[in-house]
Amino acid sequence: MTVFSSLKIRGITLKNRLVVSPMCMYSSEDGFANDWHLVHLGSRAVGGAGLIFTEATAVEPRGRISPLDLGIWKDEHIEGLKRIVDFCHSFGAKVGIQLAHAGRKAEDYAPWEREKKKLKGSKHAIAPSPIPYGKDWLVPKEMKQEDIQEVQKAFVNAAKRAVDAGFDVIEIHSAHGYLLHEFLSPISNKRTDNYGDSLENRERFLIEVVRSVRKAIPDSMPLFVRLSCVDYVEGGWTLEDSIHLARALKEEGCDVIDCSSGGIVEEEKVNAYAGFQVPYAERIKKEVGIKTMSVGLITTYEQAEEIIGNSRADLVAIAREFLRDPYLPMRWAKSKGLKPEVPRQYIRAWL
Ligand SMILES: Cc1cc2nc3c(=O)[nH]c(=O)nc-3n(C[C@H](O)[C@H](O)[C@H](O)COP(=O)(O)O)c2cc1C
Repeated sequence: MTVFSSLKIRGITLKNRLVVSPMCMYSSEDGFANDWHLVHLGSRAVGGAGLIFTEATAVEPRGRISPLDLGIWKDEHIEGLKRIVDFCHSFGAKVGIQLAHAGRKAEDYAPWEREKKKLKGSKHAIAPSPIPYGKDWLVPKEMKQEDIQEVQKAFVNAAKRAVDAGFDVIEIHSAHGYLLHEFLSPISNKRTDNYGDSLENRERFLIEVVRSVRKAIPDSMPLFVRLSCVDYVEGGWTLEDSIHLARALKEEGCDVIDCSSGGIVEEEKVNAYAGFQVPYAERIKKEVGIKTMSVGLITTYEQAEEIIGNSRADLVAIAREFLRDPYLPMRWAKSKGLKPEVPRQYIRAWL
């Protein structure tokens, strides 16, 4: 098996194992996709990626990481997203949407504006507990049971719109310190109701979201969940917790665990090195028997090949290296003497 082997998940077949990881572009107004998103995601389809994820796409306006994020909280958002999906499909790529809610990490300013402001966060932010993300961050509103129901409904409605837009895959963002991760981690969840305290209670909200989204989308559509597999904070979420959760998610019809890490507090120390998150994907895959996607500082063909060839993960997601080179899959294939799949417009440069 190689990074260029196809992979069938439920009703879809990815032409290779190379995935464009979700990346915020801070280029949207009122959640709408525009020409930037078409050119950015479309270029990676031209470049040969097997699966391309949108950035964290907000299920409700107060769930945006910044006011410039993509959104899918109203029907009007569907058309712009569909244009991108259709274009990517014409180059043989599958397209996934990452459905997200930023929770206490929602912000009222773009990252470059926020640097100039004193306050960080959003006055509309909600979270499992009224604990700010870090120093100088606004205190989020503690969610009531009605808020939990409302956000769950927002995920379901967003998923239905994603189906209407023609997406092939849905990923629920439950990593990097955003809302669903905030419920999982004992660092940010101090609730005393049935959504807090014990591990099962902290897992409840994500499991309910996954269960209700699964019911709302076709059986043939793969469902991914991105997890921060560890918190890097004493008393935080652990890899053992992730394994426990992955077992439950598999039962609920989740197909792939996308294994990232960190993000729950502003002051965290991460020792990041090439492939540092691969062991998380490997352990979850082996112990739970579920497909995994590995991400994080994967930049070379040899690294990706080692991960896939040794069955340490089923997919490799790449973020920054895809920003440096949208034609990464074509370049890697050519460098290995394989015949890259090249759009006819570019054949004279590649064959
Ligand atoms: C510009 C940028 C934006 C990002 N936005 C998101 C996002 O919207 N959702 C997400 O889950 N991760 C996001 N990430 C994290 C990436 O998906 C990826 O997990 C991380 O960059 C590690 O992969 P890499 O070493 O290949 O860059 C972002 C990363 C970058 C560089």
